[in-house]
Amino acid sequence: MRAHEAGALHGDIGSRGPAWLRPPVDVNALVPQLWPRNVTRDGDGVLAVAGLGVRDIAAEFGTPVYVLDEDDLRSRCRDFRTGFDGVDVYYAGKAFLCRAVVRMISDEGLHLDVCTGGELATALSAGMPPERIGFHGNNKSVAELTRALDAGVGRIILDSFDEIDRLTALARERGVRPRVMIRVTVGVEAHTHEFIATAHEDQKFGFSLAGGAAADAAFQVLDEGVLELRGLHSHIGSQIFDASGFEVSARRVLGLQSQIRDARGVELPELDLGGGFGIAYTTQDDPATPQDLAKRLRRIVESECAAERLAVPHLSIEPGRAIVGPAMFTLYEVGTVKDVDGIRTYVSVDGGMSDNIRTALYDASYSATLASRASTAEPLLARVVGKHCESGDIVVKDEFLPADVQPGDLVAVPGTGAYCRSMASNYNHVPRPPVVAVRGGQARLIVRRETEEDLLALDVG
Ligand SMILES: Cc1ncc(COP(=O)(O)O)c(C=O)c1O
Repeated sequence: MRAHEAGALHGDIGSRGPAWLRPPVDVNALVPQLWPRNVTRDGDGVLAVAGLGVRDIAAEFGTPVYVLDEDDLRSRCRDFRTGFDGVDVYYAGKAFLCRAVVRMISDEGLHLDVCTGGELATALSAGMPPERIGFHGNNKSVAELTRALDAGVGRIILDSFDEIDRLTALARERGVRPRVMIRVTVGVEAHTHEFIATAHEDQKFGFSLAGGAAADAAFQVLDEGVLELRGLHSHIGSQIFDASGFEVSARRVLGLQSQIRDARGVELPELDLGGGFGIAYTTQDDPATPQDLAKRLRRIVESECAAERLAVPHLSIEPGRAIVGPAMFTLYEVGTVKDVDGIRTYVSVDGGMSDNIRTALYDASYSATLASRASTAEPLLARVVGKHCESGDIVVKDEFLPADVQPGDLVAVPGTGAYCRSMASNYNHVPRPPVVAVRGGQARLIVRRETEEDLLALDVG
């Protein structure tokens, strides 16, 4: 079904919210799995991150502002590293990338997945060791590939026959032998608690397994011998909680691995299972720990390798959301509170779909809390909306906020670290918010707020 032009959620009248959403016993209580690990309410009931109150953050940096709990981000990196011991963990930079975050993930021993020249430039300018960078993308330009080769990135994930030809020609010209992987579309689409396994893959990424393109791509690279084929790569979706999609994809991709061995006598030494591990956006989400995920993925790969009589390849994964998503929240100021005919209360904040497009784009669910104070008022079912000229401009579809929420209050939305700032736009000429990292009670600006001057500087007409 196509969404209404006015926005996916336009005209969603009379809803009392999803069945699972119940008025909380304590409207000030924080649900721990939704918040960065160092977020609490201080003695006055003000939300605080690593000991720093959000009122102070708002006073210094303005609103809206993305607030990163740096120690939370670092601890999630370490959880993946230790949980996935012996596996290379590539942080998927598309979730959120800036130089400070590159340094954080690099310090914590992670690798980095980039998928455009801009992400590559950010990584290199922050000193990310190029050999720990993987370069993705379904349409990398000659300029981007050239830059990747000149920088010496650790691996390039091939996505089309045009790209194989392009990279082969560039490698020949330069006399280099870049390490590559083949992105295989395995006919598994996984999302949250469901996955669909099909025989065909109708999507722009990768080489189709079922149609034989993936095998042909591997044979071409091996036969030409210009690029060093390290392994196969599959990424099956996002916000996944159920490991059975990985089971099907590992079986299929390792089937190709054994086909390659049988045809060319080569056992590829590496395998990447992609990212997509789910996080908690609402009380309904219960993500697995990296330790659990690692155990399950390892078991799946080991049993499939045994079935195919293959040595277990060196594994890598590419989590983005699961590392940065829960480490950040967005802080907004309330501008208006409107009760619409007793149907619903709309709480308008000073940002919206320009800083979080996921609700409008994916019908994503979020949570929210009154952040600048505690309240003794009853819970009120509210919809948190933005300031854009679009009725689908919704940040949080349904949430219980205190009934006395009012203009000037600060509202915080957790779980906004991934695919919010990185997908932010200037719709309605709204400058994009800054990102502030907080650690040990100190706030540090890591991405500054865009200004109207920034917007006008591009407008040269
Ligand atoms: C190839 C690849 N790897 C990793 C990711 C990261 O996914 P997530 O942030 O859900 O972990 C993506 C997301 O689109 C992707 O396309």
